[in-house]
Amino acid sequence: MADLSGKTALVTGAARRVGRSIAEALARRGMNLALHFNRSRRESLALAAQLRRSSGVRAEVFRADLRDVPEIKRMVARAAREMGGLWALVNNASLYVKTPFETATLKDWDDHMNANVRAPFFLAQAAAPHLRRSRGRIVNIVDWSALRPYASFMPYCVSKAGLLCLNAALAKELAPEVLVNAVLPGPVLLPESMSAGQRRAVQAATLLKRLGSPEEVAKAVAFFLESADFSTGAALTVDGGRLIA
Ligand SMILES: NC(=O)c1ccc[n+]([C@@H]2O[C@H](COP(=O)([O-])OP(=O)(O)OC[C@H]3O[C@@H](n4cnc5c(N)ncnc54)[C@H](OP(=O)(O)O)[C@@H]3O)[C@@H](O)[C@H]2O)c1
Repeated sequence: MADLSGKTALVTGAARRVGRSIAEALARRGMNLALHFNRSRRESLALAAQLRRSSGVRAEVFRADLRDVPEIKRMVARAAREMGGLWALVNNASLYVKTPFETATLKDWDDHMNANVRAPFFLAQAAAPHLRRSRGRIVNIVDWSALRPYASFMPYCVSKAGLLCLNAALAKELAPEVLVNAVLPGPVLLPESMSAGQRRAVQAATLLKRLGSPEEVAKAVAFFLESADFSTGAALTVDGGRLIA
């Protein structure tokens, strides 16, 4: 069991939605937070202030467009320097856009691959010296659809399948110093544009007949960081049974 208090986690896409819940859960455990954002500057600054106030931890914000590899490298170096090292990297940020097969463009394909699988690779590469030194951990937020793709989101699902392979590949590469594990959420926070009928259908398609919560994903992340001392390369579904339904 790792005592998380005083250790630093870099969480990507931390300003809103699931990333925000992950940051809050880690701050409650006393972790210092490097909060990555791209467009959500205002929300990330507000979250940093809230975490400092509510948990007494250090929380700073770091911007990068994760489709840009030099930006990734600069952001990780800055975060490690300003936070005094890194113990955990949570690859949470992702691009999720509907891209029907017939009309998906080269840009759609490249943007999903670059944000969802290339970026976690280069984030891990840049963070690795710090994580090896601190004997730290990586958690990759994947998706149940990496194992069972659904229609109209092919670049997204394929990018998440790539991330699942990257999870195992990083676990091998970084052993024994760094543990690398994946959380595969099911439907947790649906796109804001979804109709009530569509929401009901998504809920009905899980075995547990409900949506998950961002807090349930955050608990799984905390489990891998705090308790899963003999797990690396593992993948935990937090999907209400959606994968096997
Ligand atoms: N929500 C669900 O029900 C669900 C289900 C299965 C899996 N997941 C996975 O869980 C994670 C979190 O889900 P979510 O719904 O909270 O995600 P989200 O709202 O779709 O995206 C999270 C953040 O990713 C960041 N991001 C996107 N493209 C980026 C880029 N090019 N560069 C830098 N940052 C970028 C954005 O940061 P800014 O706002 O700062 O730009 C965004 O706020 C994702 O990995 C997702 O695939 C979620």
